Amino acid sequence: MRVALIGANGQLGSDLLPRLKEAGHEVVPLRHADIEIADAMQVAEVLNPLPLDLVINAAAYNLVDRAEDEPDIAYSVNALGPRNLARLCEAQGWRLFHLSTDYVFGGVPDPPGRPWTESDVPQPSGGYAIGKLAGEHFVQAECSRHFVVRTCGLYGVAALRGAGKGNFVETMLRLGRERRQLRVVDDQRCTPTATADLADALVRLIETDAFGLYHATNSGSLTWCEFAREIFRLANLEVEVTPITTTEFGAKAHRPAFSVLDGRKLASVIGGPLPDWHEALAGYLASRGKFV
Ligand SMILES: NC(=O)c1ccc[n+]([C@@H]2O[C@H](COP(=O)([O-])OP(=O)(O)OC[C@H]3O[C@@H](n4cnc5c(N)ncnc54)[C@H](OP(=O)(O)O)[C@@H]3O)[C@@H](O)[C@H]2O)c1
Repeated sequence: MRVALIGANGQLGSDLLPRLKEAGHEVVPLRHADIEIADAMQVAEVLNPLPLDLVINAAAYNLVDRAEDEPDIAYSVNALGPRNLARLCEAQGWRLFHLSTDYVFGGVPDPPGRPWTESDVPQPSGGYAIGKLAGEHFVQAECSRHFVVRTCGLYGVAALRGAGKGNFVETMLRLGRERRQLRVVDDQRCTPTATADLADALVRLIETDAFGLYHATNSGSLTWCEFAREIFRLANLEVEVTPITTTEFGAKAHRPAFSVLDGRKLASVIGGPLPDWHEALAGYLASRGKFV
């Protein structure tokens, strides 16, 4: 397929690019300097001349707390950006692949502790989550041949060269070298996901015609506190990790207490689940060693 990859310089985009090429696709990588997705005219000017089959939107406004201060900017990138892409893709007969987030689930599942499925009704809270859910809806409403994939807590080696907003693993490794004790939130359960594994899965998904909404994370679930402890254990860093609550941490934006996503629909389409989170973390720490 002929693919435009928007957000090619981000964490996920950087892992998608080589995998798409390896799978035999012709890829035009587009960085923020090449395209502003919130600008409908520019989107058309950049994409219209390209012979395409598929547009992948891995670009987003990901600054969850800052989105509370600048909700209009977050909405223009996370909602109007995908709307611009969806309209153009529909008009051109292109497929659209769009990424969304577990943060659309701000509530509590019934029964509590049941991973969220694609048919559950989202309850987003905060500027980031609301804009991302609106972006999903625009893609679903405006582009008939779409994939929308919700994922969670991404970490990819592109963060080592400053891509995107960084990631939790790199933050813990930096803090773990600076301090002997850390306080980490222990009442948010989700599944942090390696962009390397996610990119492998997404390349398999785009090669199908199974359009629709999917959940895609590594397997298993954990709290950020548990994740931090495992990072330090694998990195041989002696850090005492104290569990704290979301309220004690005091971030500006709301974070879901439970945003574990049920990945069975995707697994049935691509032939199996993404790797377990332990394996993903170990793989990430091994591969980042080549860059530092
Ligand atoms: N990161 C997470 O923990 C997480 C969790 C759940 C879902 N997701 C979703 O997964 C997707 C990929 O996330 P990621 O972590 O790979 O993101 P990332 O590393 O922050 O990369 C996003 C890329 O988008 C570009 N970009 C930002 N605004 C843009 C705009 N208005 N027009 C065009 N390009 C723009 C950025 O370029 P500049 O840096 O040059 O601005 C950046 O290269 C996003 O849809 C995100 O919402 C991420």
